[in-house]
Amino acid sequence: MGTYAVTGSASGMGAASAALLREAGHTVIGVDLRDADITADLGTPEGRRAAVQGVLEASGGVLDGVAAVAGVGPAMKDAGAVASINYFGPVALLDGLRPALARSSAGRAVVIGSNSSTTVPMIDDTLVGLLLAGDEDAAREHARAAQAGLPTELARTAPSISAYATSKFALARWVRRTAVTPEWAREGVLLNVIAPGAVITPLMLGSTGVTEEPDADSFPTPMPLGLFGRPEDIAFWVHQFLRPEARFTTGATLFVDGGTDAAMRPDAQPTALSL
Ligand code: NAI
Repeated sequence: MGTYAVTGSASGMGAASAALLREAGHTVIGVDLRDADITADLGTPEGRRAAVQGVLEASGGVLDGVAAVAGVGPAMKDAGAVASINYFGPVALLDGLRPALARSSAGRAVVIGSNSSTTVPMIDDTLVGLLLAGDEDAAREHARAAQAGLPTELARTAPSISAYATSKFALARWVRRTAVTPEWAREGVLLNVIAPGAVITPLMLGSTGVTEEPDADSFPTPMPLGLFGRPEDIAFWVHQFLRPEARFTTGATLFVDGGTDAAMRPDAQPTALSL
């Protein structure tokens, strides 16, 4: 049985992922702001260092997998914090834990992105550049300044929508670039992204401003399967990506979104390579 670190383990998809791994007999080290084996704020450099240190101590320096699930949604007021939590949080955690994953015979990492990265037409290219360059101060400042231009209704309901979609976009791109580097690929550490669509969790219900499960057909984005996801639907794929048998996929993004991305961008994949 293996040892796995799961961030965001106190709620939603992270809690479901941790439960599934535990049911399978694995040891899980949960990381969250509260109710976790390691309480740490992944939105700050100190919190990330504490999280990495805590996981290394709890695991004895050898990890079979990491599921970087913790994150916040577009309803968060401070877009700078969204950039810090959703991008710099998982990137620092994965960078810090990579050596421990490399010590396993089958190190696996999976990150929760979002289908917002391809279905929300508000990707901020400047912010993508700052995130991928690792400039957290400039990214936070830019994300906050960009909030000023939002239409009033959006500013009220989803003030961080652009920073949210952009942080998940940059995260998926970081994974694609990073997974194929020798430090990951040749050390046998596989790194992939799951891009969920609308999944019923406290975060989603908070973002949509309702307390009950909304109607799939009146949701703003198309829902071809006519249903919302459950945390367990994401946990299932987290578990698959973390299995030792999943040995030939890295740098991939898997949409687990009831068909939303395919419905909105049917011809976006495959993309032909041009000479
Ligand atoms: P949730 O709110 O139920 O769980 C998120 C967990 O992350 C919470 O336990 C929270 O305390 C933790 N967290 C938040 N900020 C943190 C910080 N600074 N440091 C440490 N832990 C922190 O939300 P849910 O929906 O399970 O979200 C999981 C991931 O899925 C997030 O990354 C979110 O952006 C992403 N996502 C969610 C979608 C949805 O429809 N629910 C859709 C697409 C992506």
